[in-house]
Amino acid sequence: MTVVAIDGPSGAGKGTIARRVATELGYHFLDSGAVYRAAALGCVEAGIDLADEKASAAAVKAMDIRFLPQDADSGLVDTSRVLLGTHDITARLRSEVAADSASRLAVLPSVREVLLPIQREFLKPPGLVADGRDMGTVVFPTARIKIFMTASAGIRAKRRLEQLKDHGIDAKLESLVQEIAERDNRDANRKHAPMKEAEDAIHIDTTSLDIEASVALVIDHVRQTLSGNKKCPDGEITSC
Ligand code: C5P
Repeated sequence: MTVVAIDGPSGAGKGTIARRVATELGYHFLDSGAVYRAAALGCVEAGIDLADEKASAAAVKAMDIRFLPQDADSGLVDTSRVLLGTHDITARLRSEVAADSASRLAVLPSVREVLLPIQREFLKPPGLVADGRDMGTVVFPTARIKIFMTASAGIRAKRRLEQLKDHGIDAKLESLVQEIAERDNRDANRKHAPMKEAEDAIHIDTTSLDIEASVALVIDHVRQTLSGNKKCPDGEITSC
């Protein structure tokens, strides 16, 4: 089964791009950030102190988190809709509270341990596109295709602002720049499963690429790899 693992910091475009790539390939799709966000919102709602590792891990283990696909008839699993118990928390997952608490929860090794099998369950035939921070290093270390996607800090903050606006959420660019920097710093420097480029990943910089071009680049790379042609594609891929 083919796994396409796409890791990188927030705002690099990996969520949108990964979803589109999954649709084009007819693969299942895992937005692992949604798993962390759902677990974090569950903890916040239950009044759990996110600095208390034991209590957080126990709460996450007992949580009833369910993921529903965008199109139930497709036979494909994905993370489009998220239920916590009987509540649909999909819209709330996009808030900065969810993002910030997810990144604080994500530093806890025993929480990551609890969330590992939930993420691996998404791997089913014919294949999976998974996006996150440790898809290629920890969750699917034997993934056939690994991509580390980045973009400049300025453009990432701008994209995040647009995304929040689309969800009807108000935010300021300056505070987003700061929040993103804090989150990146926490994600990249945590002890357990930090965000880092897998040794066998290719690096894609999307700063000057739109979604269409980025999707085309990834699809091209996937198809070349699957056909056994290891030629490094042209474009914004800086290591191959
Ligand atoms: O990708 P997204 O912004 O939704 O992720 C929210 C937070 O969840 C990240 O900042 C990160 O701390 C955590 N996360 C993680 N490992 C993943 C996916 C997300 O630690 N694979």
